[in-house]
Amino acid sequence: MEHTKNYNDVLLEYASYQNEARKVMKPSCHVCKVCNGVACAGRYTNSLEMGAKGNNAGFINSCKALGDIRIELDVVHDDYVPDTSLELFGHQFDLPVFASPIAKILTDYEYPSQYFNNNNAYARALLEGCYEAGGMAWLGDNKAEGYFEGQIEAIRDIDGVGVPTIKPWADRDEFWKRVKWCNEVGAMAIATDLDAIGLGYQYSGDPNSKREGVCARNVEELKEIVRSVDKPVIIKGIMSVKAAVKCAEAGAYGILISNHGGNVVEGSLAPCDVIADIKKAVGDSMKVFADGGVRSGEDVFKMLALGADAVGIGRPYVVAVYGGGKAGASIYTQKIYWELQNIMRLANCRNLKEITRDKLIIRK
Ligand SMILES: Cc1cc2nc3c(=O)[nH]c(=O)nc-3n(C[C@H](O)[C@H](O)[C@H](O)COP(=O)(O)O)c2cc1C
Repeated sequence: MEHTKNYNDVLLEYASYQNEARKVMKPSCHVCKVCNGVACAGRYTNSLEMGAKGNNAGFINSCKALGDIRIELDVVHDDYVPDTSLELFGHQFDLPVFASPIAKILTDYEYPSQYFNNNNAYARALLEGCYEAGGMAWLGDNKAEGYFEGQIEAIRDIDGVGVPTIKPWADRDEFWKRVKWCNEVGAMAIATDLDAIGLGYQYSGDPNSKREGVCARNVEELKEIVRSVDKPVIIKGIMSVKAAVKCAEAGAYGILISNHGGNVVEGSLAPCDVIADIKKAVGDSMKVFADGGVRSGEDVFKMLALGADAVGIGRPYVVAVYGGGKAGASIYTQKIYWELQNIMRLANCRNLKEITRDKLIIRK
């Protein structure tokens, strides 16, 4: 898109959407000016809310670890407009940023909003808003009747730009049914969040149970998925070199380094703390994506410098859509775009390739 709105106007517009979202999301989120897991720690009952598991340490760690990293500046250079664009999944994007998949928040509360319990409207606003601003959205999964297929429908209308993230359902038919739907709407890639085994969805062990949830997948099963799905497959929820190497062995197109927003392990490591080791281990054999606590273009810069190819943002996009619908998702993407371009100019990086590890100052 033509990024013609200036940064101050973008910030004001986003703040107005935060105010709107606050009115609606009160039962499960304060919509803090800084979304860092502190105000919601221990406040809500389980991982279905905008907080995280238990004492929120996993969520808080993600924000804090990223915030503790500094960026080395070099403002003595030729004047130029930094190029934030990248090509991914056969498409061109204005920035290496996507909305991370978020489900559930849409169905568990009585929000007075047109987006509440209306998967099609929510996902359409998110997908189209991100797309319009030169970004993209990934979508989450849920077994509620009509949920998954309803929300991915809008992908059809935006040239396949969207990444449905399918849970590793114990019932393999549920998984493959969703792959078929993704093919029908022409989704450019699919992901599967293997760490969902840490949510409240666990497989009961009873194959006859109607409440059958998710279960683990081994390398052989991942190989089968990669072989049978006719598009890039990304494994989400990877937090160690061990698991990343297995994904590479399975032939995955990429991994999404993520602690599920702190929702699966109470005191989880921060994703930014494991990126560099994982990147060193897998090299260029797979794309490496990462999310967790990213709130600004500077945070995106840090994740990229540590080795990520693109970066996901979760909770703030929910706020953006509940407060401003499609325009909200678009303006939040524009905010990140401006901030990334700004810090690249300050750190003397003409393009994404120039965002390297030596631009960071990490004092432990
Ligand atoms: C309420 C909520 C619902 C989520 N639902 C999903 C989901 O359906 N699938 C998934 O892969 N990740 C899900 N996640 C995790 C996000 O994709 C992402 O990893 C995380 O929110 C990133 O952290 P951030 O919110 O601090 O940016 C969810 C997170 C939250 C907070």
